[in-house]
Formats: sequence, C-alpha cells, structure tokens
Amino acid sequence: MVCLGNICRSPLAQGVLEHFVQLRGLNWQIDSAGTNGIHVGEPPHHLSIQVAKENGIEIKNQRCRKFVKNDMLLFDKIYVMDDENYKAIELICGKEFNFLKVDYILNEVHPNQNKAVPDPWYGGIDGYYNVFKMLYAASESIVNKHQP
Ligand code: 4NP
Repeated sequence: MVCLGNICRSPLAQGVLEHFVQLRGLNWQIDSAGTNGIHVGEPPHHLSIQVAKENGIEIKNQRCRKFVKNDMLLFDKIYVMDDENYKAIELICGKEFNFLKVDYILNEVHPNQNKAVPDPWYGGIDGYYNVFKMLYAASESIVNKHQP
C-alpha cells in the first residue's frame, strides 16, 4: 500500500487489508510505504489511528518508511492511492517498474477509472472517515476476489 507520506492513507490501507486477511485466515504479508520519506520512523497520523480504532483496527504500532525499488521485486501486488504515487514509484523503480503488479486501489471497486483516494492531510476527521470507507470497500473486494 503506497501513498505520499505513509502517514494518513497507506497505514489505514495496510490496517484494513490486514483486518480482512486475518478474518479470512489468508497467509498474506501486507505492508505500506510512502514516496516522499518526510515522516520516516513516525507512527501514523493520530486521526488515522483514531478512525481505525473506532472500527476495531489497531495501526498505532506501524512506522513510516519510504518506498524502495526492492519493494517492486519483493511484493506480488502494489496498490497506490493516486496518480502522483503511481508516477513517483515509476521514477523510483526505473527499469524495475512492473506495471503488471501496480494498480490504483480504487480500481478494485471502480475498475479502470484510476480514481484517487483523496489526501486527508490538510483537512479534518471527516476526510479520514471518507478514506477509511473507500479503503474498506476496496480491501473487501481484494479478499473476495481471492476467496469469494
Ligand atoms: P498521506 O498524506 O500521503 O496519505 O500519508 C500525507 C502526509 C504527509 C504529507 C503529505 C501527504 N507531507 O507532505 O508531509
């Protein structure tokens, strides 16, 4: 799960998908990273932690890290939140970029539309609720595809 800061959206995306994976007993390794590296080592944004917790999901132990080229080799699937994330990992990966592995997470619910999960960083808690709702639907769709 990749966003810009690895502070707001992708930690929620990681937590929500981990929640579904645990519920379904799937043996998947989920992780998240940011493309800008500004907040490396920090926990998720307090509003992401709060919204997850209200929904029974604990994300406070996650720590921000920067997306690296090796992630493209290590993971089977890489989900981005928006166009900017997509372009950033293309740049980071160079010739290792594998477009077959990379997708916009909202294409799981709105196929082929490349819709963005809006960045809630500059707004209030409603933005985080909105992001949570989008990521919840997308994650449910991801696990349903593999285990209807
Ligand atoms: P995120 O939100 O990409 O959803 O984690 C942001 C968090 C921090 C910054 C930008 C976006 N920032 O520039 O510090």
